[in-house]
Amino acid sequence: MKRLVILTGAGMSAESGINTFRDTGGLWEKYKIDDVATPNAWRRDPALVLDFYNQRRKQLLNVAPNEGHFAVAEMEKHFDVQVITQNVDNLHERAGSTNVLHLHGELMKVRSTGSEQEVFEVLPDKIEVNLGDMCPKGFQLRPHIVWFGEAVPEIEKAISTTETADILVVIGSSLQVYPAAGLIHHTKPGIPIYLIDPHEIDHLPSHVTVIQKGASEGMKELKKNLLAG
Ligand code: APR
Repeated sequence: MKRLVILTGAGMSAESGINTFRDTGGLWEKYKIDDVATPNAWRRDPALVLDFYNQRRKQLLNVAPNEGHFAVAEMEKHFDVQVITQNVDNLHERAGSTNVLHLHGELMKVRSTGSEQEVFEVLPDKIEVNLGDMCPKGFQLRPHIVWFGEAVPEIEKAISTTETADILVVIGSSLQVYPAAGLIHHTKPGIPIYLIDPHEIDHLPSHVTVIQKGASEGMKELKKNLLAG
């Protein structure tokens, strides 16, 4: 089976009703990154940061995977698929994808501020995490999210996975945030690279095949292309 690596960003979940970050009306128009998504923000006002992610988590419980997520999961019938996602939602998993690497953390997990290794699932009946919520060793819990300015622990795994790809597909990412955006430069030379996005993405390598559509429609076209031969 050929190895299909699929790198996804916020646009993957847009049709599920989760706003992207940088489109018009996106999250970073409503919030300042520096207020809610950096280690400094956490030091300055942890309650505000926790509230921001509590809201994101509540939203996630009220949305469902879209056709695009299901189409990605279905690719496992035809390919050895690895999803690398920048998204912190769990919509790929809920659509049935079995190999999902989260580069920027996961909304439905929290971790101890005492140790990065101590990660806990957020239970659906207690999805709010507030000041005073402690890990078993007595340290405050924080979102299991990679904030701006923090290292991306899974990037090495993502790079070595991308190096094994026979086909790479990027769906719904503005490719503005590194190191994730740099993954497209880690493929074996000459493999097919597709990009599904309704908007134009600047500075793409010339050998990328662009499918200028949303995730659901774009996946239909990709499927036709990949399964035709
Ligand atoms: N289908 C596919 N793509 C879409 C759709 C759609 N229906 N709607 C919008 N898009 C595209 C936009 O055109 C844009 O190129 O999704 C992309 C979203 O880009 P960003 O908002 O920048 O999201 P992303 O690339 O995932 O951001 C990377 O930045 O804020 C941080 O940590 C956060 O993981 C995030 C990272």
